Amino acid sequence: AADTDLDLVAGLLRDVPDFPTPGIRFWDLSALLADGAGLAATTRLLAASAGEGEHAADVVVGIEARGFLLGAAVAHALGVGVVAVRKHGKLPVVAARRSYDLEYGSATLELPADVLRPGERALLVDDVLATGGTAVAACELVEGAGAEVAAISMVLELPALGGRARLGDRPVHTLLAR
Ligand code: PRP
Repeated sequence: AADTDLDLVAGLLRDVPDFPTPGIRFWDLSALLADGAGLAATTRLLAASAGEGEHAADVVVGIEARGFLLGAAVAHALGVGVVAVRKHGKLPVVAARRSYDLEYGSATLELPADVLRPGERALLVDDVLATGGTAVAACELVEGAGAEVAAISMVLELPALGGRARLGDRPVHTLLAR
């Protein structure tokens, strides 16, 4: 079933040249998320990459914006809650913020106050691992709150951009590479 799930996911990914800026190839998960079987397969595969027993995650952290959709689905599958790490200016009360460089431009992520407890094990979920700047910033927010990054699970990895190396020793699981 896992192979079938993966084939389904791979078949529903789309890449768009020159978005959001010339020279950038944008991976679009809209069709995958809009497809019931595709969303279910993606959720199963991401949830399966989470640890079990002592390695299990206590909470999912979803990264704006597509990480919210995937993160909530994975959290529901695992029976845990979800924390939204948001772009600057969206949260009324912020525990901490981190700025980072993107393939295109820069951005700031913020962690809501009083949602992650020290010692909690967080599973980070997002759609694409590109340069890793976003994921590193999210990990630093989680770790700064005294929680632990149990693993980072993404649908798609772009290995040429080196994101995995920037994440260091943190466990990284990606379903597909392009
Ligand atoms: C995309 C993607 C990841 C991030 C990956 O989000 O959804 O979060 O970039 O890039 P990186 O590994 O080089 O950091 P984007 O910044 O476009 O934000 P959005 O989801 O809010 O549109």
